[in-house]
Amino acid sequence: MPDDPPRSALPFPDPDLTDGTVLLRPWQERDTPQRYAAFSDELCQRFSWPHVEPITEAQVHAALADNERDRLAGASLNLAVVDPADPARIWGAASLYDVDPAQSRASIGYWVAPWSRGRGVATRSLRLLAGWGFGALGVHRLELTCGPDNLASARVAEHCGFVREGLLRSHLRFKTGRRDTVVFGLLPGELR
Ligand SMILES: CC(C)(COP(=O)(O)OP(=O)(O)OC[C@H]1O[C@@H](n2cnc3c(N)ncnc32)[C@H](O)[C@@H]1OP(=O)(O)O)[C@@H](O)C(=O)NCCC(=O)NCCS
Repeated sequence: MPDDPPRSALPFPDPDLTDGTVLLRPWQERDTPQRYAAFSDELCQRFSWPHVEPITEAQVHAALADNERDRLAGASLNLAVVDPADPARIWGAASLYDVDPAQSRASIGYWVAPWSRGRGVATRSLRLLAGWGFGALGVHRLELTCGPDNLASARVAEHCGFVREGLLRSHLRFKTGRRDTVVFGLLPGELR
């Protein structure tokens, strides 16, 4: 078995990723109130927050340091999705996580603020970050997971070329029980 490559900190994309309609940049301290307002909405809490108790502003604030620790450990990279015309305006988030340099693989996820949904923000963000993952990070597989009832998220994945690969039964603890997970995969050359 070859030795695993050493883990190094994940770089921030430089320059920031943008297609002119969305821009992905590092989170900043001053984003916390908007990040909290966005993520505490009903859909984010239903689909992206595994706990029963709603997220608190203190937890969102702590996420800033957690995100940086995980980036420095080479495990994940969490970016704010913002309005390119006003980069202080938060539209959502996109992240690479479970980054595995030994297997050249990563997972990818996103959420969008209720005030920014339904106009392609998630699809554009996913496309940008997936392209950067294949290019700058050189991963050979991206995985995306969602709950079976998260039809909007599945639609976003399919828009970008992700292939529905299967259903992981009783995959994780979620709220008061266990949840199945739909798994999608994307290989270089399949991104749309
Ligand atoms: C899923 C989510 C990120 C989509 O963000 P968005 O910016 O509105 O997504 P887009 O505009 O790029 O595309 C959404 C697609 O889903 C479709 N859609 C939206 N709600 C839907 C629903 N309830 N059922 C089926 N399709 C739906 C839209 O019509 C669109 O498809 P279309 O372009 O073919 O019309 C957003 O709803 C969200 O943040 N949800 C809560 C958190 C979450 O689920 N995150 C993902 C966890 S895996």
